[in-house]
Amino acid sequence: MDNIPTEPAIIDLPKFLDRRGSLSFIEQGLHIPFDIARTYWVYDVPGGEKRGGHAYRQNQELIVALSGSFDVVLTNAKGERRVWHMNRSYYGLYVPNMWWRELENFSTNSLALVVASTPYNSDDYIRDYAQYLTCRKEGRNGG
Ligand code: TYD
Repeated sequence: MDNIPTEPAIIDLPKFLDRRGSLSFIEQGLHIPFDIARTYWVYDVPGGEKRGGHAYRQNQELIVALSGSFDVVLTNAKGERRVWHMNRSYYGLYVPNMWWRELENFSTNSLALVVASTPYNSDDYIRDYAQYLTCRKEGRNGG
């Protein structure tokens, strides 16, 4: 996709609620601004633990709290820190590439679903915040 959104955003996913329960879904081409290459999920996170602590050069993600709750903390190169408390299965947080990203404050039995735009590639990670800042300021992401 040529026009990659640069701002994080909550995406309101479809939800079908009836007396039998609730159902939501994500369909490529309809609900997210990228093609899906990969899905992973984070679970059994011990109390107080954090995940993430990196940025992706290319990878974009949609993060959904399928169960329980957690915070997604995104920081940009200006040092602006934004926190989303994820606790609904019908909201997805779109995370553009090149945002510093942390997941924390996991509730017991929480389950984070992540839909990703690229296959796993360790070279796509920027794990050093100073390096992230340098890349952003120079307008490059190595991709
Ligand atoms: P990592 O992305 O570092 O976890 P987090 O950002 O939540 O702290 O992934 C942890 C490990 O899992 C990493 O060493 C590689 C592996 N991994 C894969 O093999 N494939 C994947 O799609 C992901 C997300 C991780």
